[in-house]
Amino acid sequence: MSSTTVIVMGVSGSGKTTLAQGLAESKGWTFAEGDEFHSEANVAKMASGHPLTDEDRWPWLQSIADWIGEREAAGESVVVTCSALKRVYRDLLAKDNPSVVFCELQVPAEVLEQRMAERKNHYMPASLLRSQLDTLEDLHPDERGFRVRVQGGPDHVLNEVLRHL
Ligand SMILES: Nc1ncnc2c1ncn2[C@@H]1O[C@H](COP(=O)(O)OP(=O)(O)O)[C@@H](O)[C@H]1O
Ligand SMILES: [Mg+2]
Repeated sequence: MSSTTVIVMGVSGSGKTTLAQGLAESKGWTFAEGDEFHSEANVAKMASGHPLTDEDRWPWLQSIADWIGEREAAGESVVVTCSALKRVYRDLLAKDNPSVVFCELQVPAEVLEQRMAERKNHYMPASLLRSQLDTLEDLHPDERGFRVRVQGGPDHVLNEVLRHL
């Protein structure tokens, strides 16, 4: 297989965008923000403080999976952020895309709360953090990928991930 797709997953504020941008830059790979595949209706719903239902999520996840499939067919390696909190979401993303490897960022809840409080102008209110943590199904050993316990800063996390790849 000629390409790699790293899906950086975890709850909001876990550092997906930060890590994915650093990884893409370090490897010279294409970067995509999973949030940008959301419909306007989904963005508006989240902005009003309502969690998305799975029905809202399937077309979003499918569009990410389709995009990954296109990049894979072109032999391109990519890094994509996607919360991918549930196993069924990840199964959809990985099903037809053999290049997919998940990277789960695990951050203690109190650190996440602190980060959310400092982050204004983001469409995910801190009040949704609890529901995200309740929903999260950690990456299972039979899934392709690895987990990183986030302790140090962005450079430390990037080095950990590069070591795994
Ligand atoms: N390893 C890290 N250590 C400390 N702060 C971090 C780290 N990674 C990201 N951050 C900060 O945490 C916040 C959330 O990071 P971000 O990458 O936007 O997370 P996500 O994309 O998962 O929501 C940002 O303010 C970011 O600068
Ligand atoms: Mg992000």
